[in-house]
Amino acid sequence: MRIIKTIKALRLCLAGFRRKGKTIGFVPTMGYFHKGHISLMKASKKANDITVVSLFVNPLQFGPREDLAKYPRDFKRDSLMAKEAGVDILFCPSPREMYPGSLLTRISVAEMSQGLCGASRPGHFEGVATVVGKLLNIVQPDVMCLGQKDAQQVAVLKKMVLDLNFPLKLNVVPTVREPDGLAMSSRNVYLSPSERKEAPAIYRALKAARVLILSGELDATKINSKIKKLILEGTSASIEYISCVDPDSLKAVRRIKLPVMVAVAVRFSAARLIDNIVVTRSIGSP
Ligand code: PAJ
Repeated sequence: MRIIKTIKALRLCLAGFRRKGKTIGFVPTMGYFHKGHISLMKASKKANDITVVSLFVNPLQFGPREDLAKYPRDFKRDSLMAKEAGVDILFCPSPREMYPGSLLTRISVAEMSQGLCGASRPGHFEGVATVVGKLLNIVQPDVMCLGQKDAQQVAVLKKMVLDLNFPLKLNVVPTVREPDGLAMSSRNVYLSPSERKEAPAIYRALKAARVLILSGELDATKINSKIKKLILEGTSASIEYISCVDPDSLKAVRRIKLPVMVAVAVRFSAARLIDNIVVTRSIGSP
């Protein structure tokens, strides 16, 4: 695995592969790898000749009161894990390399960035879309792999790719979970031991919502209050949002129409966790 720190060196290296007709898969990350990141790397490897992973904790997507300075980092462990997963190139630019001067150009995927997580994280999705837009221009991959865990990020980036004609395919990879159902996240390290025991209640509540929907409940308000009750009963967390939305437009629905995405964000003392499920037709039905 090659570790590359500059845009120039990465472009030079990728031009060589492209000349040989190799396809390039790309996985953008902020590091502190877990099995979720690894499954994206494996998905990219499976479908492409060369896999590029970027590791960059992007200051632009953190609000002033968010965890940029203390975002977990472990470059040595990350590079070993990426190498073991078969990654060809680990691109880890410095903030100066990515943002050498003032940045006057931003990518904003309007409305879709404002609801759900966007409501409590103003500017977050603009920061995500801008850095991913830059990374796509640098790497120019054939395929970009994203995790379903960050469903709003997927929807926003899908729309950006469509609106700005980025010539690539998106591969959305299912959420990887701990054995007890908690969605893997670099931020799970912020949970106290007792909160860690409570956190699987989030996915249990989402699964209960799926059962409710598939058994015919069409009223989103009733579904939301059922999830709320289950999470509040099982944890010390507070709820930031619970919403049944259209998976593409992210618009909240009042009456359920499949497919529907049920998305939640909850706050523990130091950790803000998000999760979602997409409910499609029941298994076995046509
Ligand atoms: P990061 O949080 O490091 O996540 C990198 C990728 O891993 C994202 O596509 C995310 O959805 C995926 N991922 C995280 N947890 C996952 C899980 N449990 N199962 C499957 N995939 C999972 O998301 C970001 O970084 C940044 O916003 C980024 C896109 C890199 C832009 O800075």
